[in-house]
Amino acid sequence: MNSYIEAVDFFKGNNPEKVAEEFKTPLYVYNEEIIRNRMHAVSQVITKYPYTANYSIKANTNIHLLKLALEEGLNCDAMSEGEIRMLEAAGFPKERIFFVPNNVSAEEMKYAIDRGIMTSLDSLSQLETFGEINPGGKCAVRINPGVGAGHHEKVVTAGKKTKFGVAEEDIDKIFEIAEKYNLTIAGINQHIGSLFMDYEPFLAAAQNFLRIALKFKNLEFVDFGGGYGIPYHKLDDEKPFEMEGFKKALEEILDKFVADYGYAPLFKSEPGRFCVAEGCVLLGRVHAVKQNNGHAYAGTDIGMNVLVRPSMYDSWHDVEVLRDGKAVSRDNLSPINVCGNICESGDLLAKDRMLPEIKKGDLACVLDAGAYGYSMCSTYNSRPRPAEVLVCKDGSIKTIRKRETYEDLFRLM
Ligand SMILES: Cc1ncc(COP(=O)(O)O)c(C=O)c1O
Repeated sequence: MNSYIEAVDFFKGNNPEKVAEEFKTPLYVYNEEIIRNRMHAVSQVITKYPYTANYSIKANTNIHLLKLALEEGLNCDAMSEGEIRMLEAAGFPKERIFFVPNNVSAEEMKYAIDRGIMTSLDSLSQLETFGEINPGGKCAVRINPGVGAGHHEKVVTAGKKTKFGVAEEDIDKIFEIAEKYNLTIAGINQHIGSLFMDYEPFLAAAQNFLRIALKFKNLEFVDFGGGYGIPYHKLDDEKPFEMEGFKKALEEILDKFVADYGYAPLFKSEPGRFCVAEGCVLLGRVHAVKQNNGHAYAGTDIGMNVLVRPSMYDSWHDVEVLRDGKAVSRDNLSPINVCGNICESGDLLAKDRMLPEIKKGDLACVLDAGAYGYSMCSTYNSRPRPAEVLVCKDGSIKTIRKRETYEDLFRLM
């Protein structure tokens, strides 16, 4: 494919160059229609049994996007008091928030308890804390089903080498602590890792998880976690996550569980990336081009402070080169390093990437930037964080987060 943004009319008739001139770069640009579409898709993963999809807001906490999730009927999960506060500000009632923290203080736990927000405990130690501050209470426990998956070892969150969840051999201790504090274990949850396109490991984990679930009595809900992948190699025509096949295979596994358990608890999932990644591109300006010892470099204002995934996880993001608002043809490609303006050798957005010729003044348009993009931004090298804009269904563009200013950098000192 020569240009994804042109194929899907991402800017809805607006000229990306004009958008970049008006709102400046670097700039996160979201597309309302694509995000609503993905949010709707995750709400249909299970239709045969009671089911809710929780958008995992760590992927992107912009309140305007949370409001889209609210309107699309999704519930949400939160990892921290800050994320609960974001959800409250967006209008989510307590019943639609699931708190899934790890290693939090009693004070942070109490914030959720005081609001009646269902909380999942990620270790026996945290379950003890919950029991001490909320005896007689209701909660969930995060289980490690023993199988992990993900695009990088840093995002595999189940299996033998992870800090997350309670291992199967400790299940009896959950019941002991529950008895000690008169707790009701209303649900169990898992999250095996992030970004899988092949759903077999997820299904294997789900089967293990459901076998473990049988040990719990009277469960109100069972939450399978998130991790559904998205095609980051769009320009090479990578196929999307095969949702229909996944749904069918998962529902077959659920049929057996429901028969064995005697009834269907509420099933949940927690997708983050799938909801927001593809509905966002990141626009940056090319400020320098050079050859260093035979290697070509394009220097942009998209540093690792703006998008850290490539430096942190060696993640791939497709890059389109835009000139005068149009995608430059990909007929003639040569290798180039696309980098940012941060003082780190690891500040590389795309390494030896086959791209059309890049000229000073071009725009680099980074695809699939909506998940773990802005939410992982920093002010490293004292660079204010970028702005975020939303291309609405009607083609209008609204600012959903202002660009930080230099004053903002000084505000807390
Ligand atoms: C507990 C939990 N649930 C859900 C998610 C969302 O994962 P993804 O964005 O890959 O769907 C994560 C991601 O780290 C997580 O830790």
